[in-house]
Amino acid sequence: MNAQAILAGNHPRKRVAILISGRGSNMAALIEAAKDESYPADIVLVMSNRPDAAGLLTASAAGIATVLIDHMVFGRDRGAFERAIQAALEAHRIEIVCLAGFMRLLTPWFVNRWSGRLLNIHPALLPAFKGLHTHERALAAGVKTHGATVHFVAPEMDSGSTIIQAQVPVMPGDLPETLAARVLEVEHKIYPQALRLVAEGRVGAA
Ligand code: GRF
Repeated sequence: MNAQAILAGNHPRKRVAILISGRGSNMAALIEAAKDESYPADIVLVMSNRPDAAGLLTASAAGIATVLIDHMVFGRDRGAFERAIQAALEAHRIEIVCLAGFMRLLTPWFVNRWSGRLLNIHPALLPAFKGLHTHERALAAGVKTHGATVHFVAPEMDSGSTIIQAQVPVMPGDLPETLAARVLEVEHKIYPQALRLVAEGRVGAA
């Protein structure tokens, strides 16, 4: 904690890692929010399971430590892959983990270890449209309202208690791409809000 924070009676900022697999626009939104020193979380590590994740470059450019843990190296050994992730998180003294477009399923061993400190963003109003291709499926189902959810991660995929949801309207003539863009805009707002709530201890896993 710096002297100013001590004088202000502030709590130290939580040390956060973001796990990505690709573009990293949600990661970038979290990094942007955390540039404000009054934000209760500090993004200290970005980890990718894919060497070609564009978000790695964005994170490095922002001066954040990056780690590549390529799942391919571990073959089918999910345990070894997750132990490598866990070791990197421990080495950086991480307190909260944010999944942001991280495209690997995590085992109960890892999820339970991080219970209440592991967040994910999903591009749908959970429990509707768990899994992939949410925008295509929302359009096919003819829903009038779609959106995004930030939730705590539980062992079952896309389950776990909701922290924040945001709705967007489905417009006539929407394509998966136009709907995805509308949802992404709200994702970038609610993920920093949700991380703030968790870092401040104002919300916990049920
Ligand atoms: C987002 O739509 C997120 O909700 C989903 O994967 C996408 C990742 O996008 N889990 P980005 O890498 O954050 O740009």
